[in-house]
Amino acid sequence: MTQEELFKNLIAHTKEYGFIFPSSEIYDGLGAVYDYGQLGSELKNNIKKYWWDAMVRLNENIVGIDSAIFMHPRIWEASGHVGAFNDPLIDNKDSKKRYRADVLLEDYIAKLEEKINKDVEKGRKKFGEAFDEAQFRATNPNVLRNVNKINACKERMVEALNKNDLDALKQLILDCEIVCPISGTKNWTDVRQFNLMFSTQLGSVSGESGTIYLRPETAQGIFVNYLNVQKTGRMKLPFGIAQIGKAFRNEIVARQFIFRMREFEQMEMQFFVKPGEELEWFAKWKETRLKWHKAIGMGEENYRYHDHDKLAHYANAATDIEFNFPFGFKELEGIHSRTDFDLGRHQEYSGKKLQYFDPEKGENYVPYVIETSIGVDRTVLAVLSGAYKEEKLENGEERVVLKFHPALAPVKLAVLPLVKKDGLPELAREIMSDLKLDFNCQYDEKDSIGKRYRRQDAIGTPLCITVDHQSLEDKCVTLRDRDTMAQERVPIADLYRIVEEKVSMRNLLKQVR
Ligand code: GAP
Repeated sequence: MTQEELFKNLIAHTKEYGFIFPSSEIYDGLGAVYDYGQLGSELKNNIKKYWWDAMVRLNENIVGIDSAIFMHPRIWEASGHVGAFNDPLIDNKDSKKRYRADVLLEDYIAKLEEKINKDVEKGRKKFGEAFDEAQFRATNPNVLRNVNKINACKERMVEALNKNDLDALKQLILDCEIVCPISGTKNWTDVRQFNLMFSTQLGSVSGESGTIYLRPETAQGIFVNYLNVQKTGRMKLPFGIAQIGKAFRNEIVARQFIFRMREFEQMEMQFFVKPGEELEWFAKWKETRLKWHKAIGMGEENYRYHDHDKLAHYANAATDIEFNFPFGFKELEGIHSRTDFDLGRHQEYSGKKLQYFDPEKGENYVPYVIETSIGVDRTVLAVLSGAYKEEKLENGEERVVLKFHPALAPVKLAVLPLVKKDGLPELAREIMSDLKLDFNCQYDEKDSIGKRYRRQDAIGTPLCITVDHQSLEDKCVTLRDRDTMAQERVPIADLYRIVEEKVSMRNLLKQVR
């Protein structure tokens, strides 16, 4: 099965089992907006709790806030979003379809990479065991031609984007002979900049003066509260402020399911440090954040850093943590050393001092900032795509299983009476009524036990217990493990301890403390 087919199956699976639904589906949906269903919300909440506890609870010098989505419009001028939070857009005059110019070019590069991979696979088949991939890539004329095309395209694209040269972007699209996927023609308009912020009107004020924005990132809510938190929390450098919240971007190319949405959630942390110490802290946060991801258990090889060569003018270091999504390695989290840019700009635009009095130095200065910024929805997608397995079992049966880390699984335990009579449902309910005080449990008495196990596998429940006739006598139940499918007999009295050991968030937090 190709990665593309697997991804389609995953999307269908998340809908079928109540994880993620297209928004407003009965009205034919709303582009790039999704709703989380009964299991998706549990998964999302567990991910948010893991992040919050790892950042705020485990670090004595990080505190969490919850700032408003609406903010003073000047904030977005100061942050640079009004002037420069743009995507370069181009229309095809025949299909009337609109595209992001850089995405058209990225797709062109991806097609060339696909061609290279096909050539490599052909070579592998032709030469068999004697095949030396590195040598083939270094010498095969087709591969070399396509590599040169890719490099030339990337170089021109980066230069045009950095210089904001929209004519050069259009010329590159023409030179690469990129056609519209709908009309098949090269009849393109000029490239224009399009601001990604959604705007609305505040109260009764109409016109320009009443225009406010839905925040495109949560970070600015932290910056403008820097002094409030520092003073009221008596925070000493270095210290961090974290927040989880919604952000909105009018993405033009919205695709790949919940990877790029118009309404999404971010988990951001700004870590304020003494100027000069920022690169040390940047390295530390880079390492700490990768550890957080790896602990989730979706395969260490599926994460990598992508250090930025070209830095924004205010940054002195930047990296992305990328995850190997079904459509390739893509950004999951950004870690940026943002110097004193944001606080400096808010100081300038608001006219209020946003400084720190350093008792050791006896002077005031604007702190430097390391930012860690991760999308909740992208993490949900990474976890879902890493966990989704279509397995063929030894007995020839097939199962779809979501191998979530137990601490993130939406349902921790299924309680299953073997039959719907003889007092088994009553005992099962009694067991569950106690366990549900601590764990999200599901009770299921319908269909054969095998079918019920499959249903729980499909939603990633780490443990199932079956209550049978013997349970009435020996006060034991059969405990079944999702991953190994092994079953063992355990006393009802031990269930709390066993489930707690398996699903506790402590198991994740211990790895990142
Ligand atoms: N404050 C910095 C900032 O917002 P960003 O790289 O634009 O940086 C940070 O966004 C993270 O937010 C990304 O790594 C990604 O996980 C998530 N994100 C950004 N745009 C998104 C979108 N349209 N849909 C879903 N997640 C998005």
